Amino acid sequence: MNINNLMVTGGCGFIGSNFIRYLLGETVFTGRIINVDKLTYAGNPENLRGIHEQYPGRYIFQKADICDADVIRKIFTDNNIDAICHFAAESHVDRSIKRPDSFIHTNIVGTFNLLELARARADKFLLFHHVSTDEVYGSLGAEGYFTEETPYRPNSPYSASKAASDHLVRAYHETFALPTLISNCSNNYGPYQFPEKLIPLVILNAVDGKPLPVYGDGRNVRDWLYVRDHCAAIWTLMRSDKRGEMYNIGGNSEMENIVIVEMVCDILDEMLPASGGRSRRSLITFVKDRPGHDRRYAIDFSKVHRELNWSPQESFATGIRKTIRWYLDNRTWIDKIRSGEYQSWIREHYGQ
Ligand code: NAD
Ligand code: TYD
Repeated sequence: MNINNLMVTGGCGFIGSNFIRYLLGETVFTGRIINVDKLTYAGNPENLRGIHEQYPGRYIFQKADICDADVIRKIFTDNNIDAICHFAAESHVDRSIKRPDSFIHTNIVGTFNLLELARARADKFLLFHHVSTDEVYGSLGAEGYFTEETPYRPNSPYSASKAASDHLVRAYHETFALPTLISNCSNNYGPYQFPEKLIPLVILNAVDGKPLPVYGDGRNVRDWLYVRDHCAAIWTLMRSDKRGEMYNIGGNSEMENIVIVEMVCDILDEMLPASGGRSRRSLITFVKDRPGHDRRYAIDFSKVHRELNWSPQESFATGIRKTIRWYLDNRTWIDKIRSGEYQSWIREHYGQ
């Protein structure tokens, strides 16, 4: 399969930007990337600073909303798109509880718009890769793992909207023979993650000596996947001859939230001792639980391992150290995305 013009949606977000860097910098991919991103609060062109210059002619950015079918169609046609890797989404569970509307629009209607474009290109279209989440499976008890056979039981508006988009992708393969793949991965962490998610939030609050909010009893379990491992998994799937399939992607790193928060505190105390030598664990604050908070996610990724020989390279112990180091070394990025300066820069450059 030779992709010439790959549309990456949501390429200015956390995983999308890591994926673009990975694809251009670390793989044999020789085509062009057309990054379509609306630049919501979570989309940050800083995440791809220098890429345009570093890879002349191979990286194009288009600020656009995937819900705007006409605009997306024009980008699709003008650029002769032959494959899509679809990351664009509203991605934060807490926001979906407060205001689900944009989750329904972007995650469901936006995905539908892209599927329709791909379908219209029929035999010239090579692959629609849909990036999804293990949260579509709902919550586990103390035992067991999500497999690709686990029934969907999403519990939050976010996971319900992702489940809906997965079903659409699956249906377009079954009904229209669209060449699709769906990957359902666990919680990602690593560089360029917007600091509303647990790990970057805790790192930055701990550096600033602010409270570290832990929901409920802190014993909820997530599996953690280093973002570069996730990017490698997506590319492994895209390069394969598999189509119409779904694959679970996991990090082999099940952890209770409280254990993660304590680890971050201890590593930071070692890398950047707090004034007076105070332990940052003293900042941990248990707060009211998230409504409908899934208790445990754990992922069985034996299918992708067996069929395509992919497995994660990073352990949580090594990945979390790299991540903390990155946040300590990239204060300018942090200050920019936290400040109003970044939003006004977007207005100035893109006129909204
Ligand atoms: P993110 O929130 O960091 O980035 C999302 C990107 O999509 C942003 O750049 C944003 O501007 C863009 N976007 C949002 N709405 C858009 C629209 N209507 N049109 C065009 N662009 C739009 O998200 P992320 O963490 O990088 O996640 C990427 C994908 O991976 C999502 O589909 C998410 O559901 C999935 N996923 C994420 C995780 C995780 O741990 N972060 C885990 C499993 C699956
Ligand atoms: P999050 O990073 O929001 O990812 P997701 O909800 O998609 O799993 O949260 C990860 C876990 O951390 C989840 O169990 C909720 C918990 N959490 C906290 O305890 N405190 C926080 O401030 C946040 C943002 C999350």
